[in-house]
Amino acid sequence: MLSTSFVLLAGLASVYGAALQKRVTCPTGQQTANAACCVLFPVLDDIQNNMFAGDTCSDAAHTALRVAFHDAIGWSDNDPTFGTGADGSMFIFGETELGFGANLGIADAFNLEVPFIKKHNISVADFIQFAATVSLTKCPGILQPPFMLGRVDATFPAPDGTVPEPFQNIDVILARMADAGLSAAETVALLASHSIAGADDVDPTISGLPFDSTPSIFDTQFFVETQLRGTLFPGSSGNQGEVMSPIAGEIRLQSDHLFARDSLTNCLWQANVNNQNHMATTFRDAFAHMQLLGQDPTQMVDCSDVIPVPPPLAAANARSVFPPGLTHSDIEQACASTAFPNLATAPGAALTVPNIVQSPLTDGDCDDDGTGCDFATFT
Ligand code: HEM
Repeated sequence: MLSTSFVLLAGLASVYGAALQKRVTCPTGQQTANAACCVLFPVLDDIQNNMFAGDTCSDAAHTALRVAFHDAIGWSDNDPTFGTGADGSMFIFGETELGFGANLGIADAFNLEVPFIKKHNISVADFIQFAATVSLTKCPGILQPPFMLGRVDATFPAPDGTVPEPFQNIDVILARMADAGLSAAETVALLASHSIAGADDVDPTISGLPFDSTPSIFDTQFFVETQLRGTLFPGSSGNQGEVMSPIAGEIRLQSDHLFARDSLTNCLWQANVNNQNHMATTFRDAFAHMQLLGQDPTQMVDCSDVIPVPPPLAAANARSVFPPGLTHSDIEQACASTAFPNLATAPGAALTVPNIVQSPLTDGDCDDDGTGCDFATFT
């Protein structure tokens, strides 16, 4: 049987190589390679103008990205009761899935996306993955992401336990990811998403705590900063799944700390340091694979040409640096086979990373404990 990633790559190659293919003009005036993709242009216009209005890779974009993972990972290559993958079950069966501990905060995505899902005629599963793909294009450093259309919506919820938790050990997280068909290398690649992310609920006293000093830029700083010795908590201490970070205002997940140090992943992690191209290409490919979990790509249409072009990465962000005041001596070297790269230290006083400003659109009636959520939408 052909692997999902092979089918995807073959499909994309046929589109990239199809310079002579006749394009169609949609009723909305835009052109695309496949008429089936025309349905996406009104969705794109609406979410660009209203859901992501003014968002430059900040809270709304981060929220849309995280839910795409939590929805897709409800899948097992070995156990059909684990869900049907990137299938919209996170919202369709929100009454069940939003209640799982690992989905704390996904209510923000429900608030952000459900009003738009109601207005448009694509599957919930496609909407979640489309919104995430568009969210990536808000972030400098992202390579043009592909997009496949045609996911089938869930008919039953994913069970508790499909989404990795920040307090789990690396072997446990990798086993869950492998069960869903994602390798250790793909898992590390996917965690580049934490370069454009933060935590609202890990420290219950502060929301919008970034995972690195540049949470609105898809750059390699996340992989440098997670390798630095932790010295402080940005807010309260003693929170499950949190360990000390090296920079004021920045939060570090225990799982990211362990990914950087565990012998199963430390060299994969370090390979991203000062290697923007490696980080961006491996993320693009792993994310495209993740977005197809549980779905049949042979029944889907390549709509990559609908996706906007991401902003360019500034030259200053293309190279990793040690944050001000920190040097190679602050690195906890973990990869045994390759030394940590020599980096310059950024000039200036020690950083205090500001909180990620929260979008009012993620703060609707649906609360983390499930009260106020309009679950009837999907029945
Ligand atoms: C595999 C292990 C992973 C673990 C243990 C993990 C855990 C977490 C945790 C605990 C948070 C903070 C939630 C909060 O308090 O608001 C978070 C945030 C986030 N994660 Fe992950 N994550 C993992 C993988 C991924 C993947 C694969 C993606 C995407 C491809 C992703 C994307 C994000 C994003 C974008 C946020 C920020 C959300 C926001 O600001 O609203 N994570 N993750």
